[in-house]
Amino acid sequence: MTAPFPTPGVDAPNGFARPVLSGPPRLDVRGLSKAFGGVPAIDNVSLTVRGHEFVAVLGPSGAGKTTLFRCVAGLLAPDAGDIRIGGRDISEMRGAERRRIAVVFQQFNLVNRLTAMENVLAGRLGYVAAWRGWTRRFTRADRLLALSCLDRVGLLAQAMQRADTLSGGQQQRVAIARALAQRPDLIVADEPVASLDPQTSVSVLELLRGIAHTEGVGIVCSLHQVHFARAYADRIVGLMGGKVVVDAPAAAFDEAAFANLYGPQADAGSSEGRRD
Ligand SMILES: Nc1ncnc2c1ncn2[C@@H]1O[C@H](COP(=O)(O)OP(=O)(O)O)[C@@H](O)[C@H]1O
Ligand SMILES: [Mg+2]
Repeated sequence: MTAPFPTPGVDAPNGFARPVLSGPPRLDVRGLSKAFGGVPAIDNVSLTVRGHEFVAVLGPSGAGKTTLFRCVAGLLAPDAGDIRIGGRDISEMRGAERRRIAVVFQQFNLVNRLTAMENVLAGRLGYVAAWRGWTRRFTRADRLLALSCLDRVGLLAQAMQRADTLSGGQQQRVAIARALAQRPDLIVADEPVASLDPQTSVSVLELLRGIAHTEGVGIVCSLHQVHFARAYADRIVGLMGGKVVVDAPAAAFDEAAFANLYGPQADAGSSEGRRD
């Protein structure tokens, strides 16, 4: 079976591209602002995510993480600022081009009555109201791609299983396979492990990091748990009151950076940030 993201010219014995340390910018956010009822939710946010990079966005509840991600995914129009994917302004992207941004949600957002494979095929339609356009008329190439994406997330054996019979961790893997089937430049994951137990969370974060490093997709992922961000992310962006207060390599995200984000009283040794 063909891997979903073979990269020409890169030596890849398993069909996937070799990890490299950095790539071209996949996401470039400049001066992004969005207010609700006159109250800023994000305020002049700038952020870059490169190919092969796994960026964690940390911040307390209400910091603006979901608002930022909804703007980047094209689900919410910002009041000001630019969002570019691979150099292209998202406000100019239409139809199939929008599939360059894939979204993974906390609650998986699968169609329960469809199989894992059918849910992944829905990724070929784009994530916006994907199954409304459902016709079951997919090409052989699309079906092979869907199977290859399920294989990538370790769920080939569950391809024909209904989504609602899968565990939470498996459902999130199907959602990641669905994102991969879009052949995205960027995956936006909003709290993808917030509904999962710690062990399952680790396996999902390992999968996401592996996809970024190996396939060259840029991934931006919001997390509550600081220790997960430090363990899995390449870079940590801290949001506080809608503003970026930290943007540092994960290894440099030390107690001072933690205190800057959560306040000096917070316990840097504790694993949890506050929950929504
Ligand atoms: N649709 C909305 N209408 C009004 N206020 C909103 C809406 N979405 C978010 N907000 C407000 O914007 C701020 C940021 O929220 P959000 O982006 O959800 O933060 P986070 O995901 O970091 O918890 C909060 O004060 C929240 O109440
Ligand atoms: Mg949120």
